[in-house]
Amino acid sequence: MAWLGEIDLGTKAAPVTGPMVSLIIDGQAIDVPEGTSVMRAAALIGTNIPKLCATDSLEAFGSCRLCLVEVEGRAGYPASCTTPVTPGMVVRTQTEKLKKLRRGVMELYISDHPLDCLTCAANGDCELQDQAGAVGLRDVRYGAGASHLGQAKDVSNPYFDFDPSKCIVCSRCVRACDEVQGTFALTIDGMGFASKVAASQAEDFFSSECVSCGACVQACPTATLVEKKVAEIGTPDRSVITTCAYCGVGCTFRAEMRGEELVRMVPWKEGKANRGHSCVKGRFAWGYANHKERILNPMIRASIDQPWREVSWEEAITHTASEFRRIQAKYGKRSVGGITSSRCTNEETFLVQKLIRAGFGNNNVDTCARVCHSPTGYGLKTAFGTSAGTQDFDSVMAADVVVIIGANPTDGHPVFASRLKRRLRQGAQLIVIDPRRTDIVRSPHIEAAEHLALRPGTNVAVLTAMAHVIVAEGLVDEAFVRERCDWSEFEDWAEFVADPRHSPEATERMTQVPAANLRAAARLYATGGNGAIYYGLGVTEHSQGSTTVLAIANLAMATGNLGRDGVGVNPLRGQNNVQGACDMGSFPHELSGYRHISDDATREMFEGLWGVPLDDEPGLRIPNMLDAAVDGVFKGIYIQGEDILQSDPDTHHVSAGLAAMECVVVQDLFLNETANYAHVFLPGSTFLEKNGTFTNAERRIQLVRKVMQPMNGYEDWEITQLLARALGYDMNYAHASEIMDEIAAATPTFAGVSFAKLDALGSVQWPCNAAAPEGTPVMHLGGFARGKGKFVRTEYVASEEKTGPRFPLLLTTGRILSQYNVGAQTRRTENSRWHEEDRLEIHPHDAEQRGILDGDWVKVASRAGDTSLRALITDRVAPGVVYTTFHHPSTQANVITTDNSDWATNCPEYKVTAVQVGRSNGPTDWQEEYEELSRRSRRIEAVAAE
Ligand code: SF4
Ligand code: SF4
Ligand code: SF4
Ligand code: FES
Repeated sequence: MAWLGEIDLGTKAAPVTGPMVSLIIDGQAIDVPEGTSVMRAAALIGTNIPKLCATDSLEAFGSCRLCLVEVEGRAGYPASCTTPVTPGMVVRTQTEKLKKLRRGVMELYISDHPLDCLTCAANGDCELQDQAGAVGLRDVRYGAGASHLGQAKDVSNPYFDFDPSKCIVCSRCVRACDEVQGTFALTIDGMGFASKVAASQAEDFFSSECVSCGACVQACPTATLVEKKVAEIGTPDRSVITTCAYCGVGCTFRAEMRGEELVRMVPWKEGKANRGHSCVKGRFAWGYANHKERILNPMIRASIDQPWREVSWEEAITHTASEFRRIQAKYGKRSVGGITSSRCTNEETFLVQKLIRAGFGNNNVDTCARVCHSPTGYGLKTAFGTSAGTQDFDSVMAADVVVIIGANPTDGHPVFASRLKRRLRQGAQLIVIDPRRTDIVRSPHIEAAEHLALRPGTNVAVLTAMAHVIVAEGLVDEAFVRERCDWSEFEDWAEFVADPRHSPEATERMTQVPAANLRAAARLYATGGNGAIYYGLGVTEHSQGSTTVLAIANLAMATGNLGRDGVGVNPLRGQNNVQGACDMGSFPHELSGYRHISDDATREMFEGLWGVPLDDEPGLRIPNMLDAAVDGVFKGIYIQGEDILQSDPDTHHVSAGLAAMECVVVQDLFLNETANYAHVFLPGSTFLEKNGTFTNAERRIQLVRKVMQPMNGYEDWEITQLLARALGYDMNYAHASEIMDEIAAATPTFAGVSFAKLDALGSVQWPCNAAAPEGTPVMHLGGFARGKGKFVRTEYVASEEKTGPRFPLLLTTGRILSQYNVGAQTRRTENSRWHEEDRLEIHPHDAEQRGILDGDWVKVASRAGDTSLRALITDRVAPGVVYTTFHHPSTQANVITTDNSDWATNCPEYKVTAVQVGRSNGPTDWQEEYEELSRRSRRIEAVAAE
């Protein structure tokens, strides 16, 4: 369905770099870039030529013939959408002849269209209806004959319907799926009158390749493809621009409302991260905001075996503050701490760490980024001087060779993946380094040049072997290295990687990557033009995560692939605000902007700003807090927007740590798994109910705007503020923008950021300050932030986690498109229809050896514990490797992950666990006990009494 109230210029913009062309349209002169269509040129001067098959998000197609124009000196009536401007062209768009032709075309469309406008879901927001009015069609002469009316609707998709009787076969949906999304799920079947839109090789949308991105629905000019919510609620009457709260791509949306009710989320064309595209999560999976399980009142209980008691906000906050003060009086100042959330806004995150440092008086603050991208922070800061990716997403359109390491963008970062796929279809080459054959390796019109299916845990060896090839074969960009990097460190590194023990042939047995493929990949990256590396948690969540990030940085520097468009080192961040959570000073050793707590000048500046002395000792990381709790010296924790019981490794240890505390405070939307061990539950607000900012994987800071009032009464930062005041530390913010003003005042890389600027520009990428008032899309342009780029030796130290006779397989984990992280939000939406449970992927050979059939229950056992789930037999994984997602609490995937972690940052080694797999009869005893514990700990007094 059409975009409510957005201007559609009909065809895409031509590059502004080319020469300008002057022409005259209806007597008006205009200059436009060469390559612009007549339709777009006319729209730019306010002349909207009637159109149906054209829209400015797609290539012009020229099928509907409604946009005909007259061009002086040219015979016939060319379609303005497919006719490029030429110098001196004189165009007429409104002659009597054109009007007659257009009415004739429109009459044919309408004669085969149901005339049910008054009851149609798109009434008032339908391009066919608008264009019929625009061409002045008043009656239809053709009577009953063959038609497409009365065909059955396809209602199989949970979010949108397909009503073929309303289809005008303009092909916008098919082209959107091909060009924008890159899934090629739709086709036009048949010829002429018989032609119709169909899901390729499938009965209906749900059983097709469709990934429910919504691009076709957005492109459809009629109500053929329409959101179920629009049909249910009615067309929206206002909209608010805001930012998706799911992944680190950071898509911006128009939240379209009818009154106070959210009708739909439509990707915003002006959004610089998503450029008008979306995935199923941001577009459709927002129903959790109204889910019946959402907790809206604060609750407390004296012990975790009691039911919850609903209390007033005042009682909850007073009780929490007095508990923290009691604990500190009894066990010492450092016996409490807190965890910030990568799902919350920058302002909320900043305030939680301020509460801990200034209110609690210690630095025991950490963030869930600990368990995902902390090695990125360490590695990139060491090599380049800044803890963040180097490019914007647009940069990929200038890449010639793209390396994807340990990331699964079509599932994890789908909107970026669509952009990447477009570039690959244009001819860029792809190298995938991943133990699993992810979708990006082979998809419609895309085939990776190399897929290095390495053994889990050997990233460092593979990347060092690639460096070996680059150095040994003389492929180093010496001019770049001499100019931009420390030459003596480079020489030391080059000597290290050149050692024959690092050759592809020497490492092949260990990595299981054929030497010839590894050599080909290294040569392609070093010599194929602009080389861009994108990586994910398959890099960081290892005991050598930081070493791998350093190895990536080494490769990029050695080949000169930094400091311009189309290249770079790009971490694909998992959660929406992982980058922001790190930037805001969530780590125990750093204040905002990555400045060490022991740095006197920085600490003194914050002491002046916050009016209290700050502890100069770094605080505890999450695993250390849990260890200290088990040891009896850490007794209270404030957890905002995180479910560490489900997301952190070694569940038994996490539960032991939480159970040993005297006051666990969880602030969240739902009673999550961690809340099983909580004494206070503070209901949180959704992204739709708050103001603030998120920072995406490109360092892009974007506004989150309040779409509706918080159902719990408060935005999350307001709750933190209430708690701070109750603790005796005064905070006085009236609006989230005031918190950003404080962040800007205290953080050099954010010095130029304000809500007013974000409102005006849409977004900025940090650093944003006096030197870069509109932000920094590509970093390290003239030189590295740290001065000279630093090469670091990357010795491969194998994980302690080793396979053997007891545990012969390696388990690695990841996520799937329809679900998000621990699933708290997406499991409470229709997205679960695509992924109702986590499955264990196992290679046919390993399954056969164990007598496992597809769908069988299997027990997965490691040194840490065991769990059961059902098997999915597939050759996506290599023999010896098994894989699962971790979106469902019942799977308890983290019961089996170990407490091994990255040597520099403690990021857990989720990606390598030695396991044994065998058939089982269903969930383990432990899983059943846990379900019971979970059920009991969710009792709320009022409900229990019923
Ligand atoms: S929803 Fe997306 S993937 Fe599905 S058919 Fe439409 S464009 Fe293609
Ligand atoms: S479904 Fe909509 S976009 Fe697709 S061909 Fe029909 S009218 Fe056009
Ligand atoms: S790609 Fe990420 S940010 Fe964009 S809509 Fe999907 S989940 Fe949201
Ligand atoms: S809009 Fe130009 S031919 Fe359809």
